[in-house]
Amino acid sequence: MTAQIIDGKALAEELRQSFKARVEALAAKGHRPGLVVILVGADPASEVYVRNKVNGCLAIGMHSEKITYEATVDQETVLNKIAELNADPNIHGILVQLPLPKHFDEEKVLEAIAAEKDVDGFHAENVGALAQGNPRFIPCTPYGVMKMFEKGGVDLNGQEAVVIGRSNIVGKPMALLLINAGATVTVCNSRTRDLKFHTRRADILVAAIGKPKFVTADMVKPGAVVIDVGINRLPDGKLCGDVDFEGCKETAGQITPVPGGVGPMTITMLLANTIEAAERKAGL
Ligand code: GUN
Repeated sequence: MTAQIIDGKALAEELRQSFKARVEALAAKGHRPGLVVILVGADPASEVYVRNKVNGCLAIGMHSEKITYEATVDQETVLNKIAELNADPNIHGILVQLPLPKHFDEEKVLEAIAAEKDVDGFHAENVGALAQGNPRFIPCTPYGVMKMFEKGGVDLNGQEAVVIGRSNIVGKPMALLLINAGATVTVCNSRTRDLKFHTRRADILVAAIGKPKFVTADMVKPGAVVIDVGINRLPDGKLCGDVDFEGCKETAGQITPVPGGVGPMTITMLLANTIEAAERKAGL
């Protein structure tokens, strides 16, 4: 049987429409939500992501601006800008696009962002709150995946969940969210011995490894929910995920496509976090 396709594009659009009223309610009280995105260097993929983040804000009536620096900028300049934005009452969210150039101390930069403006959820305070089961800001990509489970009526309680990938941006926070939701969670990586043994047991399989079509049908338990976080560019220019969609859709029960799956949800949850930050600041 062919899997049900989880349409991230449609869900993202539905949520974004629902955010407009919250934005206008805040603006009417003098608190129009504002996001600043900082980009260091000119990585083409990062440039596209940053443009989409800023445009996503503007499309629903939020304020947003991009600040760009040459790849050679010194860290102090960026830290000074973050300090200025931390003190700016019109800015509710600050995001530094990753990866940063090699001469940056990524942790130091992320820790410089005020925790109450850290709409990426990468500050140690926010990571700690998530680990303790009382999240304040949830990292956008895994947050988007949780919304997809909610929309699809996927009950995570007691389910076997396997996450492939252990990054701070996706794998680790995804595992914490699944744990908090009552799933039994295994976190694998590219070096895991007998990966298939783990993935074949998964009722919920999340692939976030950054390798095109890495997850093949023989690795998927029949009927599983397969979430593809990967965005890879093939030599012919086409996008594909970490999951071999054509093969796996015949085995999975539900599956996300690439493009049109998790991708559109990431920016949607960034908008949600920024609106949330503004609501907290406004005392709503
Ligand atoms: N680079 C890739 N994904 C992300 C993300 O979610 N946030 C930031 N800041 N950088 C990224």
